[in-house]
Amino acid sequence: MQLIKLSATDSTNAYLKDLMFNNKIGDFTVVMAHTQLKGRGQMGTNWLSEPGKNLTFSVLVKSIDRLVSEQFLLNIYVSLAIYEALSLLQVPDLKIKWPNDIMSGHCKICGILIENILSGQHIQASIVGIGLNVNQLTFNNLPNVSSLKLLLGRSLDLDELLSKIVENLKDLLGNSGAGDRKDLVERYESRLFRKDKPSTFKNQDDQIFMGFIKGVSSTGKLKILLEDNVLEEFNLKEVKLLY
Ligand code: BTN
Repeated sequence: MQLIKLSATDSTNAYLKDLMFNNKIGDFTVVMAHTQLKGRGQMGTNWLSEPGKNLTFSVLVKSIDRLVSEQFLLNIYVSLAIYEALSLLQVPDLKIKWPNDIMSGHCKICGILIENILSGQHIQASIVGIGLNVNQLTFNNLPNVSSLKLLLGRSLDLDELLSKIVENLKDLLGNSGAGDRKDLVERYESRLFRKDKPSTFKNQDDQIFMGFIKGVSSTGKLKILLEDNVLEEFNLKEVKLLY
C-alpha cells in the first residue's frame, strides 16, 4: 500500500482523483489528510472533522472490474471492511445504516463517499473516501454522532486503524469471486441498522410511512416491507429513514 500523508487538502477524494488522472499510481494508493478544508459528504453535504483527531482518507480501487450496474457491491465491500475492523475493537452495537454509514447504537461514527470513474458500462476505478470519527470528543450541534474514543473510553492509533481497514478491503476484493457474492450480500444484510424492526420513513413527497427493512436488491436499492405485505424497493433519493 502506498500511503500519502498530507497536512492539509480540500478533500482527499478530490486529491486522489487528480493524482490518478495525472500520474500512474497503483491499486490501493491511499491519501490521508490531517486536515480537510472542504471535506465532502454524501448527497452534496460537507464532512466536518477536527484536524488530526480522526481518519479522513481515500483509497484508489482499480481492480474492481465490475459493471456499472454492480456498483453497489463496492459499498458492501467497504462497509464490511470497516465493520470488521471496528468489531475487533469491540465497538458496541455496530450496524451498517444503508447504504453505507457505520453506526454504534443510534450514533453515526463513520461515513463513506464512493466516487466511480466509468468507462462505458464498466467501472474503471473507484475513489473510496472514508471519514471515521476516532479521537474527537465533541461534535457541536451534530445530534446522533459519536467517536471511538467516546464509545471505548480510550484513544486509538490512526495509522493502525487505517492499515487494518485497507487490509480488510484488499482481502474482501481479492476473494470476490462470483460464488461469494450471495454470502457477502447476506453478511451485509445481517448487519443492517433497524433490520426487521418497525421503522418510520419519509418519501420524496415528504410523506411519512411505516415499514420493515428486509435487505437490499442486486442494484443496491433498500427493500422495505410495507403494509399489506408489499415489498418495495427504494433508491437513496426516494427514501429517508427517520427512526
Ligand atoms: C457521508 O456523508 O457520510 C460521507 C462522508 C465521507 C467523508 C470522507 S472524509 C475522506 C473523504 N474525502 C472527502 O472529501 N470525503 C470523504
